[in-house]
Amino acid sequence: MKLHQIATVTINPSLDKSTHFKELVAEQKMRCEKPRYDAGGGGINVSKAIAELGGNALCLFTSGGSSGEMLEELLQKKNMQTKVIRTKSWTRENFIAFENKTKAQYRFGFPGNELSEAEQKSIIETIKEIKTNFLVLSGSLNEGLPTNFYQIIAEKAKDSGIKVIVDTSGDSLKKVIETGVYLIKPNVGELAKLMGVEYLEKKDVEKAAKTLIDNKCSEIVVVSLGAEGAFLVTNDQTEFVTAPKIEKKSTVGAGDSMVGGMVWALSQNKTLKEVIQWGVACGTAATMNEGTQLFKKEDAERLFQELQK
Ligand SMILES: Nc1ncnc2c1ncn2[C@@H]1O[C@H](COP(=O)(O)OP(=O)(O)OP(=O)(O)O)[C@@H](O)[C@H]1O
Ligand SMILES: [Mg+2]
Repeated sequence: MKLHQIATVTINPSLDKSTHFKELVAEQKMRCEKPRYDAGGGGINVSKAIAELGGNALCLFTSGGSSGEMLEELLQKKNMQTKVIRTKSWTRENFIAFENKTKAQYRFGFPGNELSEAEQKSIIETIKEIKTNFLVLSGSLNEGLPTNFYQIIAEKAKDSGIKVIVDTSGDSLKKVIETGVYLIKPNVGELAKLMGVEYLEKKDVEKAAKTLIDNKCSEIVVVSLGAEGAFLVTNDQTEFVTAPKIEKKSTVGAGDSMVGGMVWALSQNKTLKEVIQWGVACGTAATMNEGTQLFKKEDAERLFQELQK
């Protein structure tokens, strides 16, 4: 099998349908504008971000039913390299609605489809066959999947010398870092949860990240703080990058864009300082676009240049 620089995994993708409507009114029929369809889910977004930057990441995902077919078509149209694991149950759909009057955005998320034991095995076997330098495990897991599902994948990848990058939360994140991975990207709330505290202040982030590194949970810990920016912490280096000031439209996909920017930079052998700068540039560039749209390359490049000053 071909060696890929980067491969992303999306166990629980979604077909995202977004629209605009005038005003939220109960009981009445609300007319919606023509919908926009996007392929969604952590790994898929990370692959899209990498493609936007001119890179290429194999995008592996599960797909079922006619919603799955639409998801596949959307990615093929973008000329993305895909590896599909077909499932019996249908790919979930998410619905995002923008109220024109208030500019509020409502995000309705649906539970992921169930995966049989045979399908779970097939996912693990398929991933095992992929030859890649970086493997990105991103997004939530379908209900009913064991919390150590990412951990099982990470263990096998690590044995093959693959650098594993994880962006997930809760018990699934807790489990996978028992194995020890290359990079994790919790936001500050997710980091607090990992540390077993309710809240972490910015001044305590570096120490918490260092604890994870000392415990061999991850070689690199990137902690994102929304509009404030992000920390990158390793055993002997700490970088903090302040997010550039922009006009925010929607933060959907900011985290995934950030991971995409960082993995792309890693694959280009950039320094870790540049890696976190690309992460923040892509994450912040994503907030300049409406709804499910990620970022434009020219915005990310401009913000990256701004961060060099
Ligand atoms: N309001 C904002 N203004 C500017 N930049 C932002 C804003 N929100 C997010 N970002 C950028 O995106 C990066 C990741 O954002 P955030 O910390 O919100 O991640 P997240 O909580 O994982 O996001 P997601 O909800 O997409 O998973 C930040 O480090 C920053 O660069
Ligand atoms: Mg996130």
